[in-house]
Amino acid sequence: MAAAGSAVGIGNLVGFPVNAAKNGGGAFLFIYLLFVFGVCLPVLLAELTMGKHTRQTPMSAFGQQNGLTWRIAGWLATLTPFMIAVFYSVITVWILGYLHLTAVGNLNQLAKPEFFGQFIQSDSLLMYMLALIALIGLILFGGVQQGIERASRLLMPALFVILIGLCVFVLTLDNATAGLAFYLTPDFSKVNIEVINGALSQASFSLSLGMGILITYGSYLEDESKITSSGYMIAGTDTLVAFVAGLMTLPAIFAIYPETDPATLSGSSVGLVFSFFPKIFMEMVPLIGYTGASIAAFVFFSLTLIAAVTSLVSIFEVPLASLQDHIKITRKSATLITVTLILLGGWVASQSFGRSPWLTEFVSYGGATKSLFDLIVDVFYETILPLNGLLVCLYVSAKWQVLKSHLPDTEFTTRYSQLALRSFIPIILLVVFISTIYSKYFIR
Ligand code: PHE
Repeated sequence: MAAAGSAVGIGNLVGFPVNAAKNGGGAFLFIYLLFVFGVCLPVLLAELTMGKHTRQTPMSAFGQQNGLTWRIAGWLATLTPFMIAVFYSVITVWILGYLHLTAVGNLNQLAKPEFFGQFIQSDSLLMYMLALIALIGLILFGGVQQGIERASRLLMPALFVILIGLCVFVLTLDNATAGLAFYLTPDFSKVNIEVINGALSQASFSLSLGMGILITYGSYLEDESKITSSGYMIAGTDTLVAFVAGLMTLPAIFAIYPETDPATLSGSSVGLVFSFFPKIFMEMVPLIGYTGASIAAFVFFSLTLIAAVTSLVSIFEVPLASLQDHIKITRKSATLITVTLILLGGWVASQSFGRSPWLTEFVSYGGATKSLFDLIVDVFYETILPLNGLLVCLYVSAKWQVLKSHLPDTEFTTRYSQLALRSFIPIILLVVFISTIYSKYFIR
């Protein structure tokens, strides 16, 4: 449940549906499904197996093999979740802010075009950040079972109920079905190499691959628990939530703006959640009144916040577990150190939006000036995640003989994973890694 909570995140709710509508609707869904089950599931199973077999943190799990490559892999598998936690915390802080402002009746402010730009530079962010970090710290203090798992058991069903409720509400609006048509009708003519690459990175980020989360959770699995069924449960829940979210997001957009051309929608979840959606809720005022629209917005931001928090606790767990194991400190001290470090990192990264000119125009590469926040996203999300996936494949291939005992080898999934992890998946990940480096950092 905790791993499924880590998988269901902000990207599932708006990023996935809008990318599907822009990139061929049903055709995108089809490619996405192929990637989830044909490419990502084997990597997911490999990470869980690595954890379950070694019973170690990602750092020590990789370190069980000798050699510099594996030491680097161990470090990357610890540093990457830390840095992703930093940038994801910044976005989650914004969500918390929007939720609070909606609750106190300021939806009309959020819908103003200039609001988001001002909000992300405002002093109030620090307060929201402290509140968020305190909440996550509290969950983590409770430990994996009493904290993370209990929170996921409570929050994941809540997320489902809210999502279904919003779907039902949105589908009752006029013109909602036009959105369904864009979402579900397959148009294979839109599919090109970029769309395929986008579907793969969406699928692997969504399943939290390469972040050390699944290795860490694998290490907590009981001996008798079945990795293959856990893997299907995680991938299935994640994909189901993404799919159902499309039944809410796109009908909402089309009910309000029936003439929308999906090609013009922003592909980024951030632009959609913080700029586009508040406008949509304000457009609902003539239909359901200001209070009604504020309630709908409040419910939507709560949904997004729940999805983000269950992802964040999981990703904080990776550096936390490493600290606890390697420095031999208690869980409470490790939690305190982890949340403080991520708070500091998040606060510095959040200054990249104008508050600090130096961090806002931090570096230039690939023909563009980038902020510190952009740099973190480019390096850790875009570039290192596929590399980490590749390292997992290589590790698992090297140790397949010992690892395979954790997967019953009569099952089709295990045979398929064995073949895929040792042949085409590493090749695909290597190509994605190299082409990202080339296109991100060298093309002008
Ligand atoms: N699966 C998450 C999402 O789709 C990705 C993530 C996991 C991000 C864990 C941060 C922490 O949003």
